[in-house]
Amino acid sequence: MPKVLDGAAIAAGIKQEVAEDVRALAARGIIPGLAAVLVGHVPASEIYVRSKVQACADLGLASDLITPPDSVTTEEMLSLIARLNARDDVDGILIQLPLPAQVDAKTLLDAVDPSKDVDGFHPVNAGRLLAGRPALVPCTPAGVIEILKRSDIPISGRHAVVVGRSDIVGKPVALLLLHQNATVTICHSKTRDLPAITRQADILVAAIGRPGFVTPDMVSAGATLVDVGINRITAREEFDRFFKGNARREAAFEKRGSVVVGDIDPRAFEISGAYTPVPGGVGLLTIAMLMSNTVRAAKMRRGL
Ligand code: GUN
Repeated sequence: MPKVLDGAAIAAGIKQEVAEDVRALAARGIIPGLAAVLVGHVPASEIYVRSKVQACADLGLASDLITPPDSVTTEEMLSLIARLNARDDVDGILIQLPLPAQVDAKTLLDAVDPSKDVDGFHPVNAGRLLAGRPALVPCTPAGVIEILKRSDIPISGRHAVVVGRSDIVGKPVALLLLHQNATVTICHSKTRDLPAITRQADILVAAIGRPGFVTPDMVSAGATLVDVGINRITAREEFDRFFKGNARREAAFEKRGSVVVGDIDPRAFEISGAYTPVPGGVGLLTIAMLMSNTVRAAKMRRGL
C-alpha cells in the first residue's frame, strides 16, 4: 500500500512551530505583520487571502488586508507598495495573483522590498535561491520540500523529475531539490518522450495545471508522487475517467457538481510508494510556509 503524505498533519506541525516562534518574539515586543493585497473580486483569490489572514490570527501574527478596486492602476499600486515597504509594522507583503490585465504584475512584484517579499517572487530572492544564499523562498515549493523531509523521503542522490517550469513552482522546486542533492530533470511542453523521463523518477513533482495529466503509464512502481495541481472538474466524463467506482468522490460530485483533482491521475497513486493527495496534500503547506516566511522576514529585518 502506498504511504499517504498527509498535508494537514505536516502543515499543523509547521504552524505549531511558527506559533512558538511568534510567542518568543512577542516576549521581546515584536509582532510579525503581514500586509495582504487583494485586488478586485476574483472568487478563488478571495478564498485564499481570507485563509491567509485567518492563519495570521490563529498563529498570533498581525495582518492588514488591503483591497484596491478592480480598476486600480499600476501607478496606484506602486504607491501602495512604496507605503507598505516603508511601514515598520509590515514584515511581509503579499500581492495576491492574478492581477487585472491593466496592471503590470512584473513591475509591481519588482517594487516589493526583497526583505518583505514573503512570496519569494522578487528577482533578488530568485537569484539568491539560484546561488544557494539565504532567501525568502516561494511558499509552495518550500512546502514540497517540507513534506518530503518530514515524511523521511530520501532526496539526496535520487532522481527528481519536475514536470512544469513556472517561475512560481517548477523552477524554484527544481532548485530546492538540487540543493538537497537530488539529480533533477525539468520537463515541459516541448519535452520529447515525456513518459520515458517521468518513468525514471524516484520523486515526481507535477506542477502543470492540467487535471490528471500524469497517467499511470508515466510512473514507475514505488515512486514518490508530489502533486501540486488543484483543478476543479465538472464534466461527468472527466469525473468518470478519474473516479469511477469511488463512492466517496461520487457522493461529493453528486452534491456539489464538481470535485478537485490534481495534475496526477489518481489511479497512478495506487502504484506509487508514497503520494500527496489532492485535496489534502501540498496545497495545505502553502499557507503554513507563508506564515513561516513572514516570521523569518520579521527576524531577518531585525538582524535576529
Ligand atoms: N496566486 C496563486 N498562488 C499564489 C501564491 O502563492 N501567492 C500569491 N501572491 N498569489 C497566488
